[in-house]
Amino acid sequence: MRLDKWLANSGIGSRKEVKKLLKTGAVTVNGKMVKDAKVQVNPDEDEVMLFDEPVEYREFIYLMMNKPAGVISATEDSRDETVIDLLDEMHRHFEPHPVGRLDKDTEGLLLLTNDGQLSHHLLSPKHHVPKTYFARILGEVTEADAAAFKEGVVLDDGYKTKPGDLVILKQGKESEIELTITEGKFHQVKRMFQSVGKEVLFLKRLSMGAVTLDEELELGEYRELSGEELDLLGKS
Ligand code: URA
Repeated sequence: MRLDKWLANSGIGSRKEVKKLLKTGAVTVNGKMVKDAKVQVNPDEDEVMLFDEPVEYREFIYLMMNKPAGVISATEDSRDETVIDLLDEMHRHFEPHPVGRLDKDTEGLLLLTNDGQLSHHLLSPKHHVPKTYFARILGEVTEADAAAFKEGVVLDDGYKTKPGDLVILKQGKESEIELTITEGKFHQVKRMFQSVGKEVLFLKRLSMGAVTLDEELELGEYRELSGEELDLLGKS
């Protein structure tokens, strides 16, 4: 890989900042000063130092975002802003992907990573990773709905869902709930409520597996996962 990629991936700065730093002669590869960003280096063989300190190569990045409504969970889109557009260059050049999708109008926890193995683990139906959502619902959500979700409901395409755990937080003409499901069918939460004659007015994901949305993150903000969160996901 190129030397500037190594340096940028280690968190020193963007590719542009790294190039400037290289020009100052602050970087050595195997003890020799290198100013050329294009020089090829190999994490298994080469030692890169910045101001005489070793620079560890970092391959993967793990981010949590508080996704705002109006933004698409995709890497590119011809019309709409994507969650990738919300990332700094320093994180974008790792080429992370959203782990699964939230609808354009859904808010909340979205993990982004370039670690394909982790994405696969979290998304594979075999692993039954629980996802918890908060929702405001038009209509009175009842214990009968909770019982139906526990049993599994039949969606508009005939698919019967796996059991979902519905907790009613507020009952009324507009209700508030938390729903935990272990699948990720297209529009699943909205379609589950549709199957019991109700409409989701607002939807926010609170958690995925053992990782919970950091409520300190404003809508559109993101941060790297902590060591503890990576442990919870079986990483690090
Ligand atoms: N279920 C939905 O209906 N929408 C989402 O964005 C996520 C789950």
